[in-house]
Amino acid sequence: MTASAPPLDLTDPAVVADPYAAFAAARTVAPVQWHEGLGLWLAFTHAEANAVLRDRRLGRIWRDKEPAERFGSFNLIHRNAILEMEPPDHTRLRRLISTAFARGHVERLRPWVEDLAGRLVDGLVERSGGTEPVDVLSGMAEQLPVDVIAELLGVPATDRPLLRPWSNAIVKMYEYGRTAAVEDAAERAAAEFVAYLRELAADRRRSPGEDLLSHLVAVRDAEGDRLTEDELVTTCILLLNAGHEATVNVSGNGLLALLQHPDQLRRLREDRTLLPTAIEELMRFDSPLQLFERTATEDVGIGGITAPAGSKIAALLGSANHDPAVFASPETLDVGRTDNPHISFGAGIHFCIGAPLARVELQASFGALLERTSSLELGAEPHRRPEFVIRGLADLPVVLTPA
Ligand code: HEM
Repeated sequence: MTASAPPLDLTDPAVVADPYAAFAAARTVAPVQWHEGLGLWLAFTHAEANAVLRDRRLGRIWRDKEPAERFGSFNLIHRNAILEMEPPDHTRLRRLISTAFARGHVERLRPWVEDLAGRLVDGLVERSGGTEPVDVLSGMAEQLPVDVIAELLGVPATDRPLLRPWSNAIVKMYEYGRTAAVEDAAERAAAEFVAYLRELAADRRRSPGEDLLSHLVAVRDAEGDRLTEDELVTTCILLLNAGHEATVNVSGNGLLALLQHPDQLRRLREDRTLLPTAIEELMRFDSPLQLFERTATEDVGIGGITAPAGSKIAALLGSANHDPAVFASPETLDVGRTDNPHISFGAGIHFCIGAPLARVELQASFGALLERTSSLELGAEPHRRPEFVIRGLADLPVVLTPA
């Protein structure tokens, strides 16, 4: 292996606050670099990060966390997750769930999502009244995606407040430099989530509804070889978690980026037809998911290095999205950017199943914010969550003036 200088400390608060300068510096050194502290290769450029996600010799190879008795539930909901699988299991599960999230199906939800976004923004505008800063993150960005995915799956409204704390605790396991307390909390949340979903699935078995969970239960019971009970529970948990974690943070990071670039916010206000390109640009500019790992199943030459069989390599999505080899003026926020092959939704066989749904949610949220206000101003300096991999805010105080 060739060793390079440690490119960046992903737990350094300065890097978490703004990783993009560090990415730019690293890209000038080499496209793929060994990180001694993390014990993996990091792909910084668009070409190499994209290749990491697409190269079939680089797989999602799940290894149970040790000791097994301490991480029983956490391991269960990853071992059986489509995101951690390779074909043919991946293909079997992906076929089962992808129809539910296909563009045509999702488009039918648009009016319902727009109505929800409108009501949430009206509530915020009323509380703010053009003077008071209100937290758009808890008042809208977190609520909308949770409500949408919970409604689709068929999680009763009274249980929905349980979902985000469970998900938050579980996804902290994807960060580097975790404490034992964080690991224990993740296992506890996984155990509670699994127990909850088993119960809910049993309930749908007794009295089916129109929701996706009832549909999956029916598939499971009719054709057990297509979906095991653990896969059923895991799929629901993955959809519930993946179905909101990133969308929440695109709303937060994206709105903050617009508030910090008032010229672009004004441009979007004056020309709403830019909304679709603006959403893609917000996803590129400050990606909510920064890093995804793969494992080499054989020696793989990539970006001038050879990743030996068994070694890990990670795609840095945010760095790829700021690569000047692909994006003109990558540090400039341009809501009208049309040539925008960002990889915030991934690439290859694991490309995000929820992308059409996320786009509908984000267009509805930002659309409602623009339509129902005459001005949006940062009310106070927001707080950032301390994690690197899942990049987002802890709050976003905004003053909203009614339209
Ligand atoms: C803006 C919001 C979102 C972003 C940025 C995002 C991003 C991603 C990325 C980067 C991957 C690929 C991970 C990898 O290659 O290892 C992925 C996979 C996935 N996403 Fe999303 N996602 C978003 C919203 C959603 C939503 C709303 C759903 C709900 C249905 C969802 C469900 C999934 C699933 C099930 C996978 C796994 C697909 C597979 O393994 O084949 N995502 N997402």
